[in-house]
Amino acid sequence: MTADELMRVSPVIPVLVIGPDADPVMIAEALVEGGIRVLEVTLRTPQALAAISTMRRVSGAIVGAGTVLDPNQLQASRDEGAEFIVSPGLTERLGRAAIDSGLPFLPGVASAGDIMRGLDMGLDRFKFFPAESSGGRSAVKALAAPFGQVRFCPTGGIRPDTAAEWLALDAVSCIGGSWLVQPGDDHATILGRARAAAALR
Ligand code: 3PG
Repeated sequence: MTADELMRVSPVIPVLVIGPDADPVMIAEALVEGGIRVLEVTLRTPQALAAISTMRRVSGAIVGAGTVLDPNQLQASRDEGAEFIVSPGLTERLGRAAIDSGLPFLPGVASAGDIMRGLDMGLDRFKFFPAESSGGRSAVKALAAPFGQVRFCPTGGIRPDTAAEWLALDAVSCIGGSWLVQPGDDHATILGRARAAAALR
C-alpha cells in the first residue's frame, strides 16, 4: 500500500494513546465497525508497541505507529507488525529508514522548507502538524499553491465541528485527530464517533 492509498481508506485517522487501562481490541473493533480502519497507535505509552500487534489481529484494521521519532522506534514498530509510520516531523535519518522499510510513511511538515526536504527524499504525502497552530486551513491552501502534487493529512487541534471544513480542501486527503477515542470510552461511544467520522467523506 502506498501512503496515498493509506490516506484514502478512511477520512479520519484516529490518533490513539493507549494507556494501561485501555482495551486495544475493543477500541480497534469499535473503530473498524464504525468504518474507521486506519489506526495510528502513538508511541507515547509503554503499552503502545504491544497494542500494535494486538490490534493487528482485528479483522479489517490497518494498524500503524505514530509519534515515531527515530529509526530505532521505526524498527520496534515494524517488529510488532506496524503497517505504516507517522512522525511529527521529518529528519534525514528517520526519512531514509522509513523509505528503506517500504512502509507508507507520513512525516509531519509545517512549512515550505519542510515540504521541500521531503520532496528531495521522494516524499509527497505528509502529515500537516500541528495543523491548527501552524496556520490552519489557510496555511494548507497557501502551501498547496507551489506544491500542487502534495497531499496532506492535517492533524493537531482538529475537532468534530471543524473536520468537514478541513476535508473540503483539495490538498487534504484525510485528517487525523485524537477526539475519536478518549480514556474510559466504551464500545458504543467509540462506535458512534467512528460512524460520524466515517460519514464525513
Ligand atoms: C498528534 O499527535 O497528532 C496530536 O496529538 C493529535 O492532535 P489532537 O489531539 O489535537 O487531535
